[in-house]
Amino acid sequence: MTDIQKAAEVNLADEGHIECPYKTYAELHQSNGVGVDPNIGTIVAGYDTLAALARNTSVYSSAITEDDRGPRHMGINSEPVQDDVEEILSNAHPIVNALFTADPPEHTRHRKLISKALSPRSVRALQPQIRQITTELIDAFIDRGAVDLIPEFAVPLPVTVIADILGVDRTDIWTFKHWGDLMISGNIDLLSHERRREVAHAVVELHDYFVPRIEERRRQPTDDLLSIMVNTEVDGEPPLTTAELLPIIDQILLAGHETTTNLIGNAMLVLLKDDALMNRLRSSPDDIPAMVEEVLRWDPPIQCTYRRATQDERIEGIDLKAGDMVIPMWAGANWDPKVFPNPERFDIDRPTTKPHMGFGFGPHFCAGAELARLEAKIAFEELLKRLDDIRLNSVDSDLSHLPSFASHGYKQVSLTFTKSWPHQN
Ligand code: HEM
Repeated sequence: MTDIQKAAEVNLADEGHIECPYKTYAELHQSNGVGVDPNIGTIVAGYDTLAALARNTSVYSSAITEDDRGPRHMGINSEPVQDDVEEILSNAHPIVNALFTADPPEHTRHRKLISKALSPRSVRALQPQIRQITTELIDAFIDRGAVDLIPEFAVPLPVTVIADILGVDRTDIWTFKHWGDLMISGNIDLLSHERRREVAHAVVELHDYFVPRIEERRRQPTDDLLSIMVNTEVDGEPPLTTAELLPIIDQILLAGHETTTNLIGNAMLVLLKDDALMNRLRSSPDDIPAMVEEVLRWDPPIQCTYRRATQDERIEGIDLKAGDMVIPMWAGANWDPKVFPNPERFDIDRPTTKPHMGFGFGPHFCAGAELARLEAKIAFEELLKRLDDIRLNSVDSDLSHLPSFASHGYKQVSLTFTKSWPHQN
């Protein structure tokens, strides 16, 4: 076990922490930027310590399971998976640790192959399609003068984009959303027995959905991302196997939506509280990307992920044992005052010497960062162009947070607005 005497004790599952994690990070930064949650592991929030940790993949492994069965989404709980849950999982296709849950050299190979599919060039080519999806979503609610932002806009935008680029049917997006929510929570949260059963069913259903589609793309490639992922060969590397592809597809599906949904929701809340900024972005849409970057620093949708120590190690005076869980607290590093002075201040003109860690850092840096940035940019360009006088409907909104210390977003953001001229007709 980790020596809990030498670090601040933190309870990540505490409701107060989930509502305002930044208070916890400020406390950690008053000492060495490291804390311990006795139920989970050691939390690293100091920017430089975290940067070194993220680069050191041989000591801080991303492989969540300690065997070769690959990611099972069974939560970060330490208790063994229950027999009835194992039985459900026995119907899943065999998979291996891949990309997000792989270490070099496998990770390097996966990254090379997937980078081709999500390259800045491929993402830029999606711009017209993303704008069209955004426009259609706004068309659907604009005449009402009101919108429930998360389900009517912030969820369907990224999920539709992901469905389109994976080349799967748009009518399946709500099924993806359902699987995605369960599996994300299985990657990063503590799960109850019942929740584990639900996640196990989602894993089996996702495999049943994608295995035939992977086989079809092998036989008959098209120009969608799935075909690129299935058939790409780089530097003489063999294409990805189905056991590698399934977890990578599920990562793209999962990482590709809830994160971007919460980025849009978190950014909207910032603007609702700052009229001057909202007005500035309306008159200077070129500043929208800077606003998006500052949201990714100040209130990022992914607060943390995880690593596992592969050997006994000492980090900022804390003793770790091989197998201990270590939590890279990306959002905590974003509030390190040594790197971001007055971190509590939201400032899109903040001079930066080092990048924020809202997309992580090092070899596992978010593979979809360019896509997420583009979606958020287009979302706010279109929202601010077409909606005027945007206000929070505080009666219908629920500004408490989703029950996760890792994924950070509001439950319900209801808005009223007027149609902006010249878009009134
Ligand atoms: C605002 C939106 C997003 C945020 C905040 C976000 C955040 C992150 C973070 C923090 C990591 C690092 C994980 C680690 O090192 O443990 C990561 C990795 C990853 N993200 Fe994202 N992400 C977002 C959007 C996306 C999108 C749109 C996609 C795909 C289309 C995506 C795909 C991935 C993948 C595949 C990885 C694993 C990369 C690797 O292990 O090499 N993400 N993301």
